[in-house]
Amino acid sequence: METKVGKTKLSLIREDITQQDTEAIVNAANTTLLGGGGVDGAIHRAGGPSILEECKKIRARQGGCPTGKAVITRGGKLKAKYVIHTVGPIWSGGKRNEDTLLRNAYKNSLTLAKNKGIQSLSFPSISTGAYGFPTERAARIALSTIQDFLKRHTFEEVRFVLFSERDLKTYEEAWSDRYSWNVS
Ligand code: APR
Repeated sequence: METKVGKTKLSLIREDITQQDTEAIVNAANTTLLGGGGVDGAIHRAGGPSILEECKKIRARQGGCPTGKAVITRGGKLKAKYVIHTVGPIWSGGKRNEDTLLRNAYKNSLTLAKNKGIQSLSFPSISTGAYGFPTERAARIALSTIQDFLKRHTFEEVRFVLFSERDLKTYEEAWSDRYSWNVS
């Protein structure tokens, strides 16, 4: 699915985020910044050791990356010039501020990209894999956060790269329901 939000192209696709040619791709990292499975593992494998080296330098400077925050490294061997590493919340029933932390992960990634002058970026479905966040709920939060951000800022493209047809459908349905969102 492709659409325009203001002057920004918003696209939802089913592909591998490590293959995207947007200027930046966003990694669903953990607070240690030392890699892991899922998207994190795929990005470090495809991008090569230079990404982990830069993450270790960030750790030496500021410790890890708190949940909801984001840091940026170069992309190593990836087509993308940059990787924005953000940490989504671990789902624990929705009573531990998970919605706000997920919103912050998207907002801080977008802000970091904007401040760096990055014009196009790709997001995975943050927190909906190992961290167990319900995909429908995450999709509404992700898309409403991006829609809000794009009311004030413009990119060339913001791309959602889903890893399964089911997740793509969930995000497309969430987007078509946008007029009924009442996410706080
Ligand atoms: N491209 C796009 N999406 C992918 C890819 C890929 N190559 N690989 C996995 N995904 C999807 C998953 O299917 C899921 O929908 O990314 C989404 C997020 O899943 P995870 O990678 O498990 O991320 P998350 O749920 O945020 O958990 C983060 O997992 O890998 C560890 O180090 C990471 O501890 C952190 C935790």
